[in-house]
Amino acid sequence: MKARIENLLNEISAMTAQVPDEVEQLRLKYLSKKGQVSVLFDEFRNVPAEQKKEIGQLLNHLKNAAQDKIESLKSAFEGKEDVPSQMMDFSRPVDHMEPGTRHPLSIVRNEIVRIFGQIGYTVAVGPEIEDDWHNFSALNFPPEHPARDMQDTFFIATDPEILLRTHTSSVQIRTMETMPPPIRKIFPGRVFRNEAISARAHCIFHQVEGLYVDHNVSFMDLKQTLLYFAREMFGEHTEIRLRPSFFPFTEPSGELDVSCNICGGKGCNICKYTGWVEILGCGMVDPAVLDNCGIDSKIYTGFAFGMGIERITLLKYQVKDLRLFFENDLRFLRQFTGTI
Ligand code: PHE
Repeated sequence: MKARIENLLNEISAMTAQVPDEVEQLRLKYLSKKGQVSVLFDEFRNVPAEQKKEIGQLLNHLKNAAQDKIESLKSAFEGKEDVPSQMMDFSRPVDHMEPGTRHPLSIVRNEIVRIFGQIGYTVAVGPEIEDDWHNFSALNFPPEHPARDMQDTFFIATDPEILLRTHTSSVQIRTMETMPPPIRKIFPGRVFRNEAISARAHCIFHQVEGLYVDHNVSFMDLKQTLLYFAREMFGEHTEIRLRPSFFPFTEPSGELDVSCNICGGKGCNICKYTGWVEILGCGMVDPAVLDNCGIDSKIYTGFAFGMGIERITLLKYQVKDLRLFFENDLRFLRQFTGTI
């Protein structure tokens, strides 16, 4: 009996385990009801009375040693997250994964960036909280000018100098202030206007504006660039037309209509039976704006344009209510599978 206890003690002190499961196997081998240590305890009955004290002590020592060893092997695995490769079951079916889809506004923004990227435009971004200079004054909005009311502005606290930008034209100014021509940039970003929320308007929306400043930039360049954009975005048979408009920072100014991509120009409720839908504002950069930014308007000319991403997305995907873009209803969002 003594010799068997000795042997088991040696065995137990030499025990090792590579994975948690092995520890459990060892516990079963030695300490379960039929385990080797327990078997010795069962045989203790047959030990002659005069040896009982000594063997009893040895047995208790063995049991404690076995329990301590198992505990210490177990604790070595606690908090370890790596499962050794022999524990991995590569045949186990994977959990169901939803890879997710891009938001439709992101898909369209990325598409606009791609289209202009092909003709050399790069992206610039700027702050959403702006000062009066970059959002208004540098863009030729004189103080108190009614044109400021065209864009119902959110001011920050009581400071009329600090506001949430109403358009990303502010980034045009920041770019022209810091970069010499030639400039060929687009400006995607979030903008804010204090407008009642409806199927066609929101107080937060997204724009992409564009700016090209160089020697001899003409209205013809603007028109050709917009035709290229419209056909890339809405299809090669898209037609455009420009209507005169007004913006303080462009002269002349225009609004661009594209032939309705839904009815193909025949007339439907999206184009209000006119065959045309308006998608952006544009014009030749007013010389005063160039001069405000330190660009000599006697040497350089430029054009600019600006569009709402929501509006383009509504038209492209024939979505009837712009509020759907902001409600995060997965049933709506999952329908857009663009990958860029
Ligand atoms: N900033 C104008 C707007 O937000 C759009 C625009 C940009 C018009 C550039 C002309 C030129 O309405």
